[in-house]
Amino acid sequence: MEKKIVITIDGWSSCGKSTLAKQLSQKLGYLYVDSGAMYRAITLYFLRNNIDWADKKEVKNALKSISLEFVFNPKSNNSEMHLNGENVEYLIRDLVVAEKVSDVAAIKEVREFAVAQQQKMGEKKGIVMDGRDIGTVVFPKAELKIFMTADNAVRVQRRFKELYEKNPNVGIDEVKNNLEMRDYIDSHRAVSPLQKAADALVLDNTELTEDQQFKKVMEWIKKLF
Ligand code: DC
Repeated sequence: MEKKIVITIDGWSSCGKSTLAKQLSQKLGYLYVDSGAMYRAITLYFLRNNIDWADKKEVKNALKSISLEFVFNPKSNNSEMHLNGENVEYLIRDLVVAEKVSDVAAIKEVREFAVAQQQKMGEKKGIVMDGRDIGTVVFPKAELKIFMTADNAVRVQRRFKELYEKNPNVGIDEVKNNLEMRDYIDSHRAVSPLQKAADALVLDNTELTEDQQFKKVMEWIKKLF
């Protein structure tokens, strides 16, 4: 496919956005960007440096000291998040970060900082980006916008499995509460809340295997060429 397009994937926490985005980017030879990793890395920086994020001045100053970069790791076959030169890909997936990231991602200055970098990455097209506001704010003119959803219970199970593999002490209630809290904050914040773009296609994968969902989206893509 010669023409390169922009594909946006938005949706609720833990509905498999990154799995689909990675499959698509590999198949199409596109860049994959996990925008949530940027908000997670900023949160990690704020936590480590005791930044009071209710204080706008402190936030603005802290952002000046943050450099974010995705670095491809051939071992994991994944672009990993680097914060000021340090690989934080593993650390940013921790529940400690997950508990605060929605609050940090709701801050206007933080969003402006992240969105400007995301838009730059998409200038040449040929990109798949997942997040919450990618089809609505970051790339409102994207050729393909997907809005993903799945039943709550299914999402909790998936997320629990993922976290349990890293830390068997994690409890399912803790995971469920965190997921519900993030969905609530992400969809109710004043700046760029999670919402379906008017022209987004809905993908409910409650009853779809990864393979079925991938095939369905590839059909959508073929129709664009
Ligand atoms: O996709 P994720 O779970 O890694 O995202 C982490 C948090 O970052 C999530 O609670 C909402 C926020 N986020 C956002 O506000 N906008 C994005 N484009 C991506 C993530």
